[in-house]
Amino acid sequence: MSEPVSICVIGSGYVGLVAAVCFAEMGHRVICVDNDKDKVETLRSGGVPIYEEHLPDLLGKHLGRGVEFTANLAGAVEKSEAIFIAVGTPQGDTGAADLSYVEAVVSEIARSVTEYKVIVEKSTVPVYTNEWIRRVLHRHGVDPGLFDVVSNPEFLREGTAVIDFLHPDRIVVGAGSERSAQLLQRIYAPLTSGTYYEQPGALPGVCSAAHPARILVTSAQSAEIIKHASNAFLALKISFINAVANLAENVDADIEDIAAGIGLDSRIGPRFLRAGIGYGGSCFPKDVAAFHWVAQQQGLNFQLLDEVRRINDAQRDVFFNKVRAALWTLRGKRIAALGLAFKGDTDDIRESPAIEIVRRLIDSGATVTAYDPAAIERTQAVLPPSEKLKYAKDLYEAAKDADAVLILTDWKEFSNIDLPRLNRAVKFPIIIDGRNLYKPDEITDQGFTYVSIGRPATYNAQQGKPRKLIF
Ligand code: UDX
Repeated sequence: MSEPVSICVIGSGYVGLVAAVCFAEMGHRVICVDNDKDKVETLRSGGVPIYEEHLPDLLGKHLGRGVEFTANLAGAVEKSEAIFIAVGTPQGDTGAADLSYVEAVVSEIARSVTEYKVIVEKSTVPVYTNEWIRRVLHRHGVDPGLFDVVSNPEFLREGTAVIDFLHPDRIVVGAGSERSAQLLQRIYAPLTSGTYYEQPGALPGVCSAAHPARILVTSAQSAEIIKHASNAFLALKISFINAVANLAENVDADIEDIAAGIGLDSRIGPRFLRAGIGYGGSCFPKDVAAFHWVAQQQGLNFQLLDEVRRINDAQRDVFFNKVRAALWTLRGKRIAALGLAFKGDTDDIRESPAIEIVRRLIDSGATVTAYDPAAIERTQAVLPPSEKLKYAKDLYEAAKDADAVLILTDWKEFSNIDLPRLNRAVKFPIIIDGRNLYKPDEITDQGFTYVSIGRPATYNAQQGKPRKLIF
């Protein structure tokens, strides 16, 4: 593979840890820095604090060889040509991203720059952060000839983070100088030249030696906006299909057919058109708000983004009202909640619509038994078990004597439920599916009433179709 680069990655969250391990997989020498000493210890012993496919294997493969972990930022910066900043940029009160972690890290980097370094912003940040990083370095007296600042946004998704990183749709590099652009091109050369994909043991994905990853070099501001605009656009697609789903349901149309019909138009594409209970996670809600704030700072009212958020919030009400419409009163009802994570294949519950639904059910007097293949531990930290909330070790235990079963997360396991077994477990055979994981007929054939999103509810023969009730 091409010439290795010495890289420092600051922050060992989803983006930082995946980037550090994947850079090592690409043949570079990586030092990953975190100020959380316990986390550093865990990582040093090969422990992975997040649930992410391929990450434990890759860490095991490169630990102590291509990648090491430390809490000593200055030492890591000194030894590295490129310094990637991948610390959190949480949402502040105004919707703006809170950049205090970025600033703190930049101030620390400033003390250790004695020869030319490329400082790369990998965290999702508002436009002009690149410029601010440059200014902070100047203020700390760093010679402008000793550094360049580059924006290199990350587009990985949780759950598929490693494959997304190694097989990206595109690599975006916002660089103000030829020298820094060239270093980033060298770093990504194994992916853009395709040599990585020819390597024995390379993880397979959409890219190959014949179709390597593409790199787009832009200005720093453009790169910063590409990241915000990409996430905002994907969020918009989801809100759009959810709005259409609510219309479809009113006229007895089927949103799954509609999404397929829209998605077949190659200008639109089929992805991110799954109707449901709205988007969650650590990125979309935060980035839609942050992008809106960025526009506001420029005197522009990007109202469309307000609407994206409003539809998303309302989608939780839509689902909650379906539960009420199916069960009438909630006080004293036993409800099985399948799924707590914000989407399948992750243990992340940040901004999870599932968690909000569970909270609302409990507040309405229902008793909830929840099950998730990976997110129970994290959920228990914010919603401890109580009289009103129990956790089950599998979905059938969760469904025992339930008045209704709710599907809240799109885990594969929930698409393959043993329906006769579920039917034997529940008190009443009602499934309310916030992720449209089933075809209505296959559920009703098993004796269930099935309520989903953007499709007419289907009823088992015994219950019959009730009249539409308004709440
Ligand atoms: C997202 C972006 O996809 C990624 O490029 C960026 O780097 C980080 O933010 P992530 O938050 O991991 O990634 O999850 P993603 O798979 O995009 O899903 C986000 C939310 O949208 C989830 O709650 C998911 O359930 C929901 N979603 C997604 C839908 O409701 N419908 C869809 O069709 C797709």
